[in-house]
Amino acid sequence: MKIIRARDYDHMSRQAANIISAQVILKPDCVLGLATGSSPIGTYKQLIEWYNKGDIDFSRVRTVNLDEYVGLDYSNEQSYIYFMRNNFFDHVNIDLTNTNVPCGTNPDAAAECARYDYIIKELGGIDLQLLGIGPNGHIGFNEPGDSFIKGTHKVALHESTIQANKRFFEREEDVPKFAFTMGIVDIMQAERVVMVASGENKAEAVRNAFFGPVTPRVPGSILQLHKNFTLVADEAALSKI
Ligand code: F6R
Repeated sequence: MKIIRARDYDHMSRQAANIISAQVILKPDCVLGLATGSSPIGTYKQLIEWYNKGDIDFSRVRTVNLDEYVGLDYSNEQSYIYFMRNNFFDHVNIDLTNTNVPCGTNPDAAAECARYDYIIKELGGIDLQLLGIGPNGHIGFNEPGDSFIKGTHKVALHESTIQANKRFFEREEDVPKFAFTMGIVDIMQAERVVMVASGENKAEAVRNAFFGPVTPRVPGSILQLHKNFTLVADEAALSKI
């Protein structure tokens, strides 16, 4: 595990964008695993800036997103498919048919999870997985529990996750209670994993995940066992280690 200490959110975002940019330059048809939330927004902004300067070409890149709320589709501004288009896909030359997000409105959860794991397999796995971390230590929406769940699954969001994410919704009752998420094995099989973490409210999760035991009670802790994991975190997120 490598830790890149960044001064602040902007510095963290540039460092992470540099790693992703190198990946795309080295392998133009790479498979990027992508995340949503406030942590990677700056990274996407930086990548868009470099794309506009002509420094990165996304035309052959394929993507798989980590997760999606159950019940939301592109017409809902809080859906993760909307987020990805709004914050990244619509601003670079990525081919939308090469992008994948779990379908939140598929009523057949088992079929959706199987479909998504099949997509990851067909793509040949993930070259670089970008992650954030929840204040409770979740990665994707793999919530703390008694065991690690391997593949894509439907998950009941923890109350702490609903509380953390209500800032994006008008009313707390609008926050979906369920999500589809890639599983721990999907993430662990990525060739390289890069996590961005910023702010004091992530400091405890960072300490528990990377300076404590590997346990499903802190899902991010499994990354201690990943062969090529880099944490890019700012001073505030590293303040408890
Ligand atoms: C998002 C995701 C989540 C977030 C985490 C942190 O696709 O999978 O695990 O990375 O909840 O969210 P932010 O960055 O909003 O603090």
